[in-house]
Amino acid sequence: MSEPTSPIDPGLDLHSEIVRLRHEMNAVVLAHYYQEPEIQDAADHVGDSLALAQVAARTDADVIVFAGVHFMAETAKILNPDKLVLLPDLAAGCSLADGCPEDEFAAFLAAYPGHEVVSYINCSAATKAMSDVICTSGNALKIVDSIPRDRSIVFAPDRHLGRWVSEQLGREMVLWQGSCEVHEQFSERRLVELQVTNPEAMTAAHPECTEAVLQHADFIGSTAAILNFARECAADTIIVATEPGILHQMQKESPGKTFLTVPGADESCNCNECPYMKLNTLEKLYLCMRDRTPEIVVDPLQAARALAPIERMLALS
Ligand code: 13P
Ligand code: SF4
Repeated sequence: MSEPTSPIDPGLDLHSEIVRLRHEMNAVVLAHYYQEPEIQDAADHVGDSLALAQVAARTDADVIVFAGVHFMAETAKILNPDKLVLLPDLAAGCSLADGCPEDEFAAFLAAYPGHEVVSYINCSAATKAMSDVICTSGNALKIVDSIPRDRSIVFAPDRHLGRWVSEQLGREMVLWQGSCEVHEQFSERRLVELQVTNPEAMTAAHPECTEAVLQHADFIGSTAAILNFARECAADTIIVATEPGILHQMQKESPGKTFLTVPGADESCNCNECPYMKLNTLEKLYLCMRDRTPEIVVDPLQAARALAPIERMLALS
């Protein structure tokens, strides 16, 4: 965590200061749906990981401020090596990225020569640099389906997303055994209880959830797709099996509907909240812009290698 160079004046209106700095720095502020509502409300663009990568790829801003997690900001930096890319808290990581160390992944791939390597964007620049193409939860089916059927595929690092894609496309893939520590926590028992007490509700789930949870879902998709489903579906009550930060946009888009989140198995903690996403605060967002730090730095050679599979994804999306 970076230390502020000087404390924040308690009289400051942080939202207005962020807007002022945005213009002064010619910055674009991107926020993922899992960020705190006040961060989402201060951003130029709120989206899923695919939409935010697409905005980062085409922005003409000088500075990209990424209110999300490290792999998202790192992707923006790889797409914009000459721009300043800021992340409010450098410790905002991801269990999927952390669970796929460079040397272990290289050894894993060595056991599957000739395979096409598809990596979920939730991974490090080092993993991306060893991949043929990147995908997000929003385009995973399309990306994998673009690979000729006679090619064998390694899919990393999320085994739940990989299993779901494999099942949907009727296509075997070698899966790296990673998982999201948040989505893996959602309780099947509590989900079924919610469905029993709300028989008219529809359930939407993120494909990072376990098979046990996904089997009860009416709809499975990325955060943006879940948001569309919640807006368009006929049900007035929607059970949401993804990080509850997404409820902010859902409630804004469909104020008349009721959204119920699925708790984690251990109800004594807020285990359905992403602890990494929640490291970012409005204060840290303001400070990173005021102080132009912490900055995302990527090894140039690794960045150059990681760029091609990201660009291949963007071209296919
Ligand atoms: P999306 O691709 O749906 O934005 O999901 C990113 C993520 O980290 C989910 O946990
Ligand atoms: Fe990573 Fe899971 Fe957090 Fe998404 S919710 S950023 S996959 S730890």
